[in-house]
Amino acid sequence: MKSFPLEPIEKASVDELRSLQLKRLRQTLQHAYANSPVYRRKFDEAGVHPDHLRTLADLKKFPFTTKKDLRDSYPFGMFAVPREQCVRIHASSGTTGKPTVVGYTRNDIETWSNVMARSIRAAGARPGELVHVSYGYGLFTGGLGAHYGAEKLGLTVVPFGGGQTERQVQLVTDFKPDIIMVTPSYMLAIADEFERQGMDPRESSLRLGIFGAEPWTNDMRQAIEKRMGIDAVDIYGLSEVMGPGVANECVETKDGPTIWEDHFYPEIIDPETGEPVADGELGELVFTSLTKEALPVIRYRTRDLTRLLPGTARTMRRMEKITGRSDDMMIVRGVNVFPTQIEELILKRAELAPHYQCILTREGPLDCLTVAVETRPPLVPESDAARNAAEALQHEIKAYIGTTAKIELRPAGGIERSLGKAKRVLDQRSAA
Ligand code: DLL
Repeated sequence: MKSFPLEPIEKASVDELRSLQLKRLRQTLQHAYANSPVYRRKFDEAGVHPDHLRTLADLKKFPFTTKKDLRDSYPFGMFAVPREQCVRIHASSGTTGKPTVVGYTRNDIETWSNVMARSIRAAGARPGELVHVSYGYGLFTGGLGAHYGAEKLGLTVVPFGGGQTERQVQLVTDFKPDIIMVTPSYMLAIADEFERQGMDPRESSLRLGIFGAEPWTNDMRQAIEKRMGIDAVDIYGLSEVMGPGVANECVETKDGPTIWEDHFYPEIIDPETGEPVADGELGELVFTSLTKEALPVIRYRTRDLTRLLPGTARTMRRMEKITGRSDDMMIVRGVNVFPTQIEELILKRAELAPHYQCILTREGPLDCLTVAVETRPPLVPESDAARNAAEALQHEIKAYIGTTAKIELRPAGGIERSLGKAKRVLDQRSAA
């Protein structure tokens, strides 16, 4: 395949990158302080002023921004430009309360399209290819984010959106796209549908999938690659910071998303103390936008847990594939458990399908974890092989994660399919 030139900044030295970041960080802090009353109040209360930033390390003097700040100023209160200068609004639903609303100026949309084009190219796509977008269109940033970036790169876009799984398969079969952009969990539902219609998904025209919007493990990557006969590449982002395309894996290394550091400045903090930790250490990912106009974010706490790693395919730093969100962490009888840890163990067992859910209940004073997981057809839950697999899974969860879990085997289709982000944790404790 023809090689495609990188942008100069993707090849810049670390020194060049740091000086660009410092310049942009100063501008962002000044812009936020001058134009957003919420940031002005937060900075004043913390006794800091944009002039206090002399080096990148000074950023730690500035207060964090959280989802609560956005909710408290619902809908447009944190914008740093008049609403009339926004050409687009997105919102993330969230599980409780009001949605988080974000806005974009024309320049912001341009920046976002550019980082998305860069992401899709890093994933291995080339101008002229056909991309099927199954991320939801609408208030969710996935569909339109992918769409604008793909167009910018020069791809032909099929803007399908989520849902109507049968038709997804039909259009993939008829239009013969090279690339699919979708959540990994919905990719599995589409793969199932291929098989239900009597087709082998490996025979499809697809050669590349760009998957994100939810945590997924390297074992899941291998399972999808094998089942679909494609490269599976990780894309990361969040609406508050921009949308998809804050970071993207490079297909040649597949070693965790490269953060587009010329637009998004990353820090890792200790989630308890809020203190920054060194590169390589695990903690909560925090982002400061460097070029956003409508909604600059200063030290936004993502609640995503990861670590910063040195650049490989690019000079910019990478983030380790996300192990989980602090919101998804289950504490079962004192042991911290992430759904991704369970996922890794499920994927090791050929008898089980990668459709699963963690259900938390209370029995008396004790928390109980039930892992509901489908058997892989033609195996049925009642078979000896399936029962043995469940026993082995239970044993491994105890051995590797350190917690006791009940395993509930379900037949194919027994776990509700997501059309977008999978819901991995079902907490029934408060209802009990
Ligand atoms: O999910 C944006 C997006 C769309 C990313 C399409 C990638 C592809 P939100 O709805 O605001 O935005 O949710 C953001 O989703 O904080 C993470 O917890 C999770 N997330 C997103 N990408 C990944 C990923 C979009 N690659 C939240 N791996 C984030 C793990 C991810 N988690």
